[in-house]
Amino acid sequence: MLKEPNKGTDFIASALNAPVSQTEAALRPLAFSDFAGQPKTVERLKVMVGASKRRGEALNHILLSGPPGLGKTTLAFILGHELGRNVRVTSGPVIEKPGDLAGMLTNLEEGDILFIDEIHRISKTVEEYLYSAMEDFRLDIMIDQGPNARSVRLSIPRFTLVGATTRAGLLTAPLRSRFTLNTRLDYYDRATLCGIVQRSCALLQVEIDAAGAQEIAGRARGTPRIANNLVNFVRDYAQEKAKGRITQPVAAAALELLEIDAAGLDEMDKRVLRLMAEHYRGGPVGLGTIAIAVGEEADTLEEVHEPFLIQEGYLARTAQGRVLTPKGYHAIGLPPLASGEQQALL
Ligand SMILES: Nc1ncnc2c1ncn2[C@@H]1O[C@H](COP(=O)(O)OP(=O)(O)OP(=O)(O)O)[C@@H](O)[C@H]1O
Ligand SMILES: [Mg+2]
Repeated sequence: MLKEPNKGTDFIASALNAPVSQTEAALRPLAFSDFAGQPKTVERLKVMVGASKRRGEALNHILLSGPPGLGKTTLAFILGHELGRNVRVTSGPVIEKPGDLAGMLTNLEEGDILFIDEIHRISKTVEEYLYSAMEDFRLDIMIDQGPNARSVRLSIPRFTLVGATTRAGLLTAPLRSRFTLNTRLDYYDRATLCGIVQRSCALLQVEIDAAGAQEIAGRARGTPRIANNLVNFVRDYAQEKAKGRITQPVAAAALELLEIDAAGLDEMDKRVLRLMAEHYRGGPVGLGTIAIAVGEEADTLEEVHEPFLIQEGYLARTAQGRVLTPKGYHAIGLPPLASGEQQALL
């Protein structure tokens, strides 16, 4: 049995954590009840939290994957809150040596959550040590070198590893298989984002009407972080130009000023679409070719940009490569190729 959870949840965000802006922290949901969307992931997490509390055991290890800004870090903190446990935060690239990992693990209390962000960037050596820590809650660390070298066994408290990654594909199979739950976050639909926009406005004490919230939600690229950033800008705009009230025309004018397109596509999304239309007559074209031409890593395109473009129907994936859809042409203001013309190319 673990000791009683803390009364008030004690969040420990170490200095290693990536800087989070104050407004982002203020708008971050603290409990499942504040967290909108992602029904499958939330349901799975609730089941695990419920069972862990009932048994009085540490939560099993969890891997959260998905594009940036969809709520991975938020969920890690929610898990801590729901369990009444500390959340210690670190990230893959800063754990350089096995000693760094040992220091962190031995300082945990039973049942604590260790949140490792960007876990795909952890070094190979550290990763090997993580295996026994996750499975057997012990670490065999080599101390000294040469003839004096010896291994010391450290036992560590039963903790929960919550890993987050935007690139689940880059995780090694042995590491991935040590997580009891491997769950992926998807882009949010417009209705859910609309609710998030309204919640953020309420927290920021800004007046917004339903059409204003819809306008912002529609341009947020399926991403709560983007929605909140837009809310912040539109709020400033409304204060300067519209007595502080956000309506649809106010939101549209503010977002026009930011040059955010009505569908919320970002610069890289549009570069991909434009490249395909202008240089490859809409495809099919391979991902590697697109990546080189737009100057982005293929993995990033595949994990960050492509899922959104495919989900929204701008691109299609075929056995021969990526193909631009009529909606894709429309998004960059070009007429689609006549279907016969594209057929001839296929
Ligand atoms: N389901 C949600 N409901 C309301 N707000 C949300 C939700 N998910 C995320 N947010 C908001 O979006 C912001 C970004 O989320 P978060 O930092 O958890 O993303 P992330 O997946 O960890 O991104 P990254 O990969 O860049 O680290 C949060 O500060 C929070 O305010
Ligand atoms: Mg994060």
